Amino acid sequence: MRKPIIAGNWKMNKTPEEAAELVKALVPAVKGADCDVVVCVPAVCFAAVMEAAKGSNIRLGAQNVHFAKSGAYTGELSVDMLTACGVEYVVIGHSERRQYFGETDATVNLRVKAAVAGGLTPIVCVGEKKEERENGYTDAIVEYQTRMALTGLTGEQISALVIAYEPVWAIGTGLTATDEQANETISVIRKAIARQYGQHVADAVRIQYGGSMNPGNVKGLMAQPEIDGGLIGGASLKAPDFTAVVMYNK
Ligand code: 13P
Repeated sequence: MRKPIIAGNWKMNKTPEEAAELVKALVPAVKGADCDVVVCVPAVCFAAVMEAAKGSNIRLGAQNVHFAKSGAYTGELSVDMLTACGVEYVVIGHSERRQYFGETDATVNLRVKAAVAGGLTPIVCVGEKKEERENGYTDAIVEYQTRMALTGLTGEQISALVIAYEPVWAIGTGLTATDEQANETISVIRKAIARQYGQHVADAVRIQYGGSMNPGNVKGLMAQPEIDGGLIGGASLKAPDFTAVVMYNK
């Protein structure tokens, strides 16, 4: 049985003060959650979130990481810097990074390998664009992105990481994949992993759905057998909404 994992991706939102306020509201509210709870926050909020989340079941995540150990990479953060701040999870290859910041399948793979080697749990994002779905390329795209992102990892390493299936057309649009569409595409990803790394790896790896997941649709999505949680954007910015998503089964 895979334990569900629900992660908030705050994107470029919240000052440290606002972050502390949100996490303080979440701590008592998500206390009895049956899933793993993560907030992936801007780096300037790490300290405030760690302090506010102390002693709770809320874990800290980052939104990107560089693959070099250290060096002349202005504006970037290394794995060691993140772990030193208490970060345990890191979103890698989000479609916004791919679309606006030139992220490629190759750099996603470098980041994933560096994160795993340094003890971070990657949340690896894959997903098709609207026209790719309309032209019937969804399965090929997500399978390719998944294979590329995981190249060079062992089955054991893949078992322990998290994949987020985020159809690009559903991100921040209010459009959600139907429960069945999300389940079906996640099953395509899982089958691709099974073919390459074995059924035991595919059975262990957790695959989230992301894209306008919210209190209104979380129950239906989470009822699907292949969906192991969610990566939540907009609905993770307000305590009542994120609480309702995390406590979907209560
Ligand atoms: P929304 O939940 O705002 O659609 O964002 C999803 C997302 O991109 C999470 O990474």
